[in-house]
Amino acid sequence: MKKFGKRLIGMTLASVMTFGLATGCTSGGNGNSGSNDAGGNTQTATEDKGASGDIQVGIVLPTKDEPRWLQDQKQFETILGDAGFTNQVLFSQGSSATEKTNVETLISKGIDVLIICAQDGAAASAAVEEAKEAGVTVIAYDRLITGTDAVDYYVTFDSFAVGEAQGQYLIDNAPAGSGIPLYLYAGASTDNNAFIFFEGAWSVLQPKVADGTFTIANSSEAEALKDSADLSREQVGKIIGQVTTDWDFNVAKSKAEANLTAVGADMKGDVLVLAPNDGTARSIADVFASDKDVTSYVVTGQDSEKASVQYIIDGKQSMTVFKDTRTLAADSVAMAVDILGGKTPATDTTYNNEKIDVPAKQTSIVVVTQDNVMQALIESGYYDASEFTGLQ
Ligand code: BGC
Repeated sequence: MKKFGKRLIGMTLASVMTFGLATGCTSGGNGNSGSNDAGGNTQTATEDKGASGDIQVGIVLPTKDEPRWLQDQKQFETILGDAGFTNQVLFSQGSSATEKTNVETLISKGIDVLIICAQDGAAASAAVEEAKEAGVTVIAYDRLITGTDAVDYYVTFDSFAVGEAQGQYLIDNAPAGSGIPLYLYAGASTDNNAFIFFEGAWSVLQPKVADGTFTIANSSEAEALKDSADLSREQVGKIIGQVTTDWDFNVAKSKAEANLTAVGADMKGDVLVLAPNDGTARSIADVFASDKDVTSYVVTGQDSEKASVQYIIDGKQSMTVFKDTRTLAADSVAMAVDILGGKTPATDTTYNNEKIDVPAKQTSIVVVTQDNVMQALIESGYYDASEFTGLQ
């Protein structure tokens, strides 16, 4: 899959600011105010657009229970607020029904643009079709919405590269020898990204399994396909069905525990673990760390969540993939600005969603280990050094 360079945030913000001034939007002045609705969603709305209470840009995110999406929320509020756009962020809390209600709420507030990260890529089609019928332009954010032509644009990280980087990290940091136990874990099968991450990882890991360097410890489906470099979506679905974490820390923990209980001593010792993201990586790492027959483990992650960055500094998680939410949020906002200004947003690729080729803007990723935490996450201004202990 093609990789694209990271866009300069300064430029994106500048264009957002210019538009805000040109259209005479009143600045949100960072006047974000948090409140809770009856459904327990944290609703963060900036000031209203005029007396009607209209909102220009509606944002729907999957859950506030994962730090990843709080990072995105923060970026949206900062960027849209600073640029003077009225906006509201709603969380679906793991429920497609809540997600649909959130979209309907935003439609009723007069949004022109909906930026939505779907809870369930297929189920979200009904909600975005409603938005489309109401004349709203729909931007799928991070996760593709499938099986509908009601998605206008897709803003995403290079998810194939995420999986590839995770797999490559395991290869580069594997102990010497052959038959090294490899534990595979994946995201939720309702998330198109889980498939792409796994495919990226498989693209580099599969040859190492086929030639006997690694032995898959916990998936008979993956083991049966070890000689297939290219997997169909159905085949990936079968593997994910066995090794899914559902993006849930508790599911990840119980699955890792069950896996370690089921294997013999030959599948312990020095092991490799493909964990799909930071939340699940921490749960899985804790389980592997507490097994006395596991001598060492290398475990992947993604999102650069604060808790995982601390785990990396402490040597409990091996790597994470930094997906700079500042860039993704800024790219979506720049797209929304173009749409609000009657312009066609720039895109650099397309993603097929089983119905149409969705024009997409894709952003690159950065691998973070103990060696470059400082440079990638602190010096870039993403986190403050004071948020961590033991940072060198
Ligand atoms: C996102 C990841 C996130 C995961 C679980 C994926 O769609 O791309 O960054 O960790 O969902 O929320």
